[in-house]
Amino acid sequence: MAQVALENLHKTYPNGFHAVRGADFEVADREFVVLVGPSGCGKTTLLRMIAGLETISEGTLRIDGQCVNDAAPRDRDIAMVFQNYALYPHMNVFENMAMGLRIRKMPSAEVRRRVGEAAELLGVGDLLNRRPAQLSGGQRQRVALGRAIVRRPKVFLFDEPLSNLDAKMRVEMRTEISRLHRRLDATMIYVTHDQTEAMTMGDRIVVMHEGQIQQVASPLELYNRPRNRFVAGFVGSPAMNFWPVRWTADEEISLGPITARVEGGLPESLRAEDRPDLVLGIRPEDLHLERCSEPGARCATFSVEVDVVEPLGSETLLYWHSGDCESVARVDPSARVEAGAQAELFANLSHCHLFDGRSGETLVSWPQVD
Ligand SMILES: Nc1ncnc2c1ncn2[C@@H]1O[C@H](COP(=O)(O)OP(=O)(O)OP(=O)(O)O)[C@@H](O)[C@H]1O
Ligand SMILES: [Mg+2]
Repeated sequence: MAQVALENLHKTYPNGFHAVRGADFEVADREFVVLVGPSGCGKTTLLRMIAGLETISEGTLRIDGQCVNDAAPRDRDIAMVFQNYALYPHMNVFENMAMGLRIRKMPSAEVRRRVGEAAELLGVGDLLNRRPAQLSGGQRQRVALGRAIVRRPKVFLFDEPLSNLDAKMRVEMRTEISRLHRRLDATMIYVTHDQTEAMTMGDRIVVMHEGQIQQVASPLELYNRPRNRFVAGFVGSPAMNFWPVRWTADEEISLGPITARVEGGLPESLRAEDRPDLVLGIRPEDLHLERCSEPGARCATFSVEVDVVEPLGSETLLYWHSGDCESVARVDPSARVEAGAQAELFANLSHCHLFDGRSGETLVSWPQVD
């Protein structure tokens, strides 16, 4: 059993930089929580505070209900896996994995048993006599994982453990860590700036920006119900399109410099939100080259000059500029559109978001569900 509770945690570095601003969330026993956000937003700082490697300036950190603000790292029963695996180069794989247990004076038969078990679990059982220099990046990362596993900690912390690996190995290790989470039944907090990793691995995702937690939610909830424009733009690839929007006439809206027709007029739900300074958010997959077939869907139709066409096989991405904003549509791969040509696009207004242009807060997300 290991539950981690962050209560209004702050970190101010000695130089006065306020890196974490009131982090407040709970990680349930055996939950896999992913902490995601752009570079410099405070992810590593927060993880190091949980591990006890960084002091807490304000707030309370609890593990299983106990305040551990002042507990030394080794008394927190936490294992941390870093991006640079930091294996000892002069020791072989077995010794690297056994090191932490030996320091704790564990009997050597138990050390052998635990290392053997972890090595099998991670598929490095044949490599126990090799030195780190004789391993691939993926194998080294497995050894670093093994070193954490053998300790059987209450909580695992990962800080971008896959970012040194190539794309294929990253995908492989991603599924492996998810599997490991189920096998070990452990509580895990995983930091990444890769939103695909976040979406695929996390039971829940914590989105951070400039030291502040923006939203804590399941992957699909983040995707469908982003709390603000930052989260909406961060989650999803390619990212959501944002356009300043005004209702100009009953059957017409302006999307920045573009005028769009809305056949049948604006849906009541959208009309109700009429106010200055609105930003409309539409995901690339809700822009089509054909009228939306969804029953009851209302489309905004407009014409753009496509700059770039990216055929990806399973889908084709179309990019264009309007004013100084770049937009993208994800369309059917059978579409025949050339760069430089005009394309008529249909934006499904039944799947969109409205943001307050000033605060960035989400005003409404459609479709609305109870
Ligand atoms: N010891 C320190 N003293 C002062 N400022 C620091 C210190 N360590 C980190 N910072 C600053 O705190 C902020 C958060 O850093 P942190 O390493 O937590 O970011 P991160 O989200 O992990 O970024 P990345 O994705 O690049 O690893 C950054 O602006 C960083 O420059
Ligand atoms: Mg970091």
